[in-house]
Amino acid sequence: MCGIFAVIGSREVSSLLIDGLRKLEYRGYDSAGIATIDNSNKDNSGQINVKKSKGKLINLSNLIKQKLPKGHVGIGHTRWATHGKPNERNAHPHLDFSGQIAVVQNGIIENYRDISKSLAIKGIKFTSETDTEIIPHLIGLEIEQSLANGFPPNGHTLLKAVQKVLTWLEGTYAIAVIWSKAPNALVVASEQAPLVLGFGEGEFFCASDTPALVGFTRTFLPLRDHEIALLTPLGIELYGDDGNRQHRAPSLLQGTEFFADKKDFRHFMLKEIYEQPETAQQWLDRFLPMDLPSGNSVALPISTSLVERIEQIQILACGTSRHAGMVGAYLLEQFAGVPTKVYFASEFRYAPPPLSPNTLTIGVSQSGETADTLAALRMEKERRDSADDPNFYFHQLGITNRVDSSLGRELENVIDIESGIEIGVAATKTFLGQMLSFYGLTLLFASHRQKRSSQEILDLSHDLRLIPKQLADLIKKHDSLSQEIAHLFVDTKDVIFLGRGINYPIALEGALKLKEISYIHAQGYPAGELKHGPIALLDQHVPVVSIAVPGIVYEKVLSNSQEAKARDARLIGVSTYGPESEMFDELFTIPKVSEWISPLLTVVPLQLFSYHIAAHKGLDVDQPRNLAKSVTVE
Ligand code: F6R
Repeated sequence: MCGIFAVIGSREVSSLLIDGLRKLEYRGYDSAGIATIDNSNKDNSGQINVKKSKGKLINLSNLIKQKLPKGHVGIGHTRWATHGKPNERNAHPHLDFSGQIAVVQNGIIENYRDISKSLAIKGIKFTSETDTEIIPHLIGLEIEQSLANGFPPNGHTLLKAVQKVLTWLEGTYAIAVIWSKAPNALVVASEQAPLVLGFGEGEFFCASDTPALVGFTRTFLPLRDHEIALLTPLGIELYGDDGNRQHRAPSLLQGTEFFADKKDFRHFMLKEIYEQPETAQQWLDRFLPMDLPSGNSVALPISTSLVERIEQIQILACGTSRHAGMVGAYLLEQFAGVPTKVYFASEFRYAPPPLSPNTLTIGVSQSGETADTLAALRMEKERRDSADDPNFYFHQLGITNRVDSSLGRELENVIDIESGIEIGVAATKTFLGQMLSFYGLTLLFASHRQKRSSQEILDLSHDLRLIPKQLADLIKKHDSLSQEIAHLFVDTKDVIFLGRGINYPIALEGALKLKEISYIHAQGYPAGELKHGPIALLDQHVPVVSIAVPGIVYEKVLSNSQEAKARDARLIGVSTYGPESEMFDELFTIPKVSEWISPLLTVVPLQLFSYHIAAHKGLDVDQPRNLAKSVTVE
């Protein structure tokens, strides 16, 4: 979703801005822009230069290439449209009525309509359809007032004006502001939207996410809610919402491959699919090593006392992360015997179930910045805290790929899936890491509750340890098969995915992957539901993908698949090889494994199937239209 990158220092910044924005491209966007203050006039009166363009960053970089906008301070933005079409006019930065103040913003200002009306009454004309544009105008008016009251045109005057304006705004947002009369100042602020400060040598940065800082600095400090900072070429002053200076030590970026390259792969998504055996191996090495101390089923960072207290679990997540949660819920209930429910985070916030005692709330988010998930978790914390009853205590756990994210910082217990940065918008290896974490939790709860015999626990652990090799074999085999058959589906308009039991979430995930990157409509159903309505859709033009894995629902899924075939649907199986395989027109074989661990494998052919159809259609696989990697608005 929108990305902010801003810098102040002593060198020219326009190409640095493009560089920083490029590292935020993975978040998804539809237009981009930068503003710098050209301070080269002798009279020290700065001039704001704004350059914007629709579409990819390359358009902006081509636009400024001929004549780089000058300036040692600048703000940059990649926009994912919420208010107003994705065009140049609505792209950020936005200027105030005087043309002296430029602002970039992420998030949504909820009361912008009321404010725009009162600004219009004052004669201010709007040049965009965005909610953002009110901010520079409000700051402009406040600064006019300050100058009239004799305040000097400097960074602190800008800071004070921004501080005042923020008290009028409702919503969640992150902003960066510059003022042509204070070319040595950059003011940034955050209200429940991610923003990190970067400390370089003689230059300072702010960005929506840490990967943008790579190559500039490794020292960073995430802004907390309601905080505001004044950046100058000499340093950073940080203030809380009470106006008092804050002093917090910055952290050091961990990991070296923060900005991955595509290597020899055509797309990041394919590379990330190929990285799954490594993701699994690393997860196993950390959480399920061979040398576990005796009596331990898994090495997750979760205390025994927490596990002992928990009677039920609720999982809050969106999209693919919710599908991982659904696989988790199946395992936690059916294998470990813990009642578990999964919620769409976006629904939970406005329709939570009655408070249940001794409940573990798990937030799942690869980015750790999904606004719906964060808002649901915050709401749940608040309502449990205010219940003031130890039975309703907010027991919490996060599962994320970004421990440095808001989710990672806000929750007490976190499983870091450490899948490595995922650039493709369509989640693949992080889905695997999330699912594996639920297998870990299942082992933990099952052994503590003595729900399963030690042999059953050992069998599941043993099967998990075989996964990396099985994944590697599957990927190799199905990459070429899905490439071969992709052309058959290029004109397909609708696809139905069927699965049951533990593989029902995989049917949903297969459908989601296909929709998001190939733009083919796809729907996942529990196979038994087919005859209750969706079967009416079937004919020779609607292929059906059926996940049929030996286990308790195997025969049932095969019968449901037969029903589809009888309606002339082209049948694609994700199944083991056997006499029954004949019914499938295309077959992605998977090895004969225990049904418990099958989702870790069945998802792989579906990822490759979607990938190759999208790639065959020549689509932008890594940054599909309208999608964002971090969905930071509700
Ligand atoms: C699908 C996808 C999205 C995300 C969803 C939640 O490939 O990536 O459906 O799963 O937006 O994102 P996170 O996991 O960052 O909370």
